[in-house]
Amino acid sequence: MLLGRLLPRRQAALLAAILGICLIKAVTAGDILVQDGFTSDFDVINVHNDSSFGLTVHHRHGVFANTGRSYNASIAVAPAHLFHIGIGPNGCEHHRTVSEQAKLLTCEYATNAGFFDFTPPACEGNLITDGVSIQHPCPNQVNFGRKLGMTCPDSTQGDRIVIGYMQEADIADLTELITGRGWLIRHGQAYTNQSREFTPTDSFVSEKAPRTALGLTKDGAILSLVVDGIEEELVGPDLHEMASLLLELDVVQAINLDGGGSSTAVYQGHVFNMPHCLDTTEPICERNVTSVVCFWKS
Ligand SMILES: *[C@@H]1O[C@H](CO)[C@@H](O)[C@H](O)[C@H]1NC(C)=O
Ligand SMILES: *[C@@H]1O[C@H](CO)[C@@H](O)[C@H](O)[C@H]1NC(C)=O
Ligand SMILES: *[C@@H]1O[C@H](CO)[C@@H](O)[C@H](O)[C@H]1NC(C)=O
Ligand SMILES: *[C@@H]1O[C@H](CO)[C@@H](O)[C@H](O)[C@H]1NC(C)=O
Repeated sequence: MLLGRLLPRRQAALLAAILGICLIKAVTAGDILVQDGFTSDFDVINVHNDSSFGLTVHHRHGVFANTGRSYNASIAVAPAHLFHIGIGPNGCEHHRTVSEQAKLLTCEYATNAGFFDFTPPACEGNLITDGVSIQHPCPNQVNFGRKLGMTCPDSTQGDRIVIGYMQEADIADLTELITGRGWLIRHGQAYTNQSREFTPTDSFVSEKAPRTALGLTKDGAILSLVVDGIEEELVGPDLHEMASLLLELDVVQAINLDGGGSSTAVYQGHVFNMPHCLDTTEPICERNVTSVVCFWKS
């Protein structure tokens, strides 16, 4: 586990230029900095703080457009200011179910989030929650972050969503950040095959298992997707199928989060999907995880 303080942001001028855009527009700030052999490659998307819609949650059953296989999905869509990355009071060392985390953090809807280790207990990757940096950096796995309260040129308020491969200098002023494994959608297209973390044919990509993803829609809303499965039975989507479904849901940017027996959705205090914490058919149970994606009611 990496612990430490953030370094000052280095490319302030570049990001300041990007911040001038307050449309739902992707800006590639790629290939700008090489540090310890890693190259930053991320997109910055500014979204207006839109109060015209709130959190919506639903189940969706269907077939993946790319393979015709069936799925059971849990989907939440919310404006960016309701989105939060959460961990429990004892940080990465105390694993809890998503239900317990949702209750502690007063999340109306929550899913599992980052990858983690059980022994010794640890979170993997970057983690910033409510402006507090828990750990960083992890420049070779994809990230999803947010900075609240940007001011647009027309004086309206907005949020900045940042997605991609980032180093310390890139994340210094983010208020929320989570690391996943696999950049599923970029610029409105499937990007799994371009992800740094694996090759398109790696077993991590092709394995049929429960999956959890986090994305941004073309309207500037945050979208959470959990698709059910059973890891040991090879039931559930592979990452190409996740990308296919995310595209159907009008997602323009998305990353893959921890999945398998961790994949859990909780809505209004109740488990909303069919989690298989032991990776086996029975029982339906929640795994203890570290971080969660949390949507507040308002
Ligand atoms: C979807 O859920 C139903 C039960 O509600 C179950 O019978 C079916 O096997 C599930 N399908 C998949 C692909 O998870
Ligand atoms: C966005 O709008 C909501 C509702 O008006 C408000 O509660 C929230 O503070 C705003 N957030 C920012 C970052 O301006
Ligand atoms: C990604 O790679 C896989 C395996 O090589 C291939 O089947 C698939 O068509 C590719 N997908 C896209 C969107 O390029
Ligand atoms: C989760 O952790 C608690 C202790 O904090 C333990 O009692 C419980 O059995 C664990 N649940 C699972 C599914 O491992």
